[in-house]
Amino acid sequence: MKIFMDTANVDEIREFADMGIVYGVTTNPSLIAKSGRSQADVIPEICSLIPGPVSAEVISLDCAGMLEEAHKLVKIAENVVIKIPCTAEGLKAVKVLSSEGIRVNVTLIFSLPQALLAARAGAAYVSPFVGRLDDIGEDGVQLVADIVDVFRNFDIKTEVIAASIRSLGHVNAVMLAGCDIATIPTKVLRAMLVHPLTDKGIEKFLADYRDSQKR
Ligand code: E4P
Repeated sequence: MKIFMDTANVDEIREFADMGIVYGVTTNPSLIAKSGRSQADVIPEICSLIPGPVSAEVISLDCAGMLEEAHKLVKIAENVVIKIPCTAEGLKAVKVLSSEGIRVNVTLIFSLPQALLAARAGAAYVSPFVGRLDDIGEDGVQLVADIVDVFRNFDIKTEVIAASIRSLGHVNAVMLAGCDIATIPTKVLRAMLVHPLTDKGIEKFLADYRDSQKR
């Protein structure tokens, strides 16, 4: 499973990019707002840090507006992926953009039929929202597992991005479900890195090393 960061915070992206673990980045209008910067300002910087896919979301609701935004966004860098919500207008835009060779990440996927429609429209990626489904008492991980299964059965090449990840449990579960990608918020990424026994092990090794130096 490839790791994407789900943030528009450039400092956080730089920190994890230095470890070589970040394959791509996803942003959305809420994350851009949280960064305190504009999309036009922050997306070029993210693209220069991460050579892999960087999703930038359109805000227009109609196909023509989405296409206009998308055509501007792809000029920023070669690795920009256009993020479009799963609506009728959105899928029309996906059809046009994919025929132009522009990669689209269809976002706000909450059902198996939505994932199939997005894939058939030509999406390079679909983003089922795990946490938001759990929030309404549904099983977000199960949706990811079902989409992975269906895409495999029908040999659909669209990659599945597990989005709205809230916990280590989500990461483990979507990994075991064979999901192609998880887009992970920084807090959860930090939690993936640590284990109390690692810290304890380092302390013990250092203590033993210091003892050995006294002999
Ligand atoms: C995905 O691409 C979205 O940016 C993101 O995962 C949404 O997560 P949230 O439900 O925690 O806002």
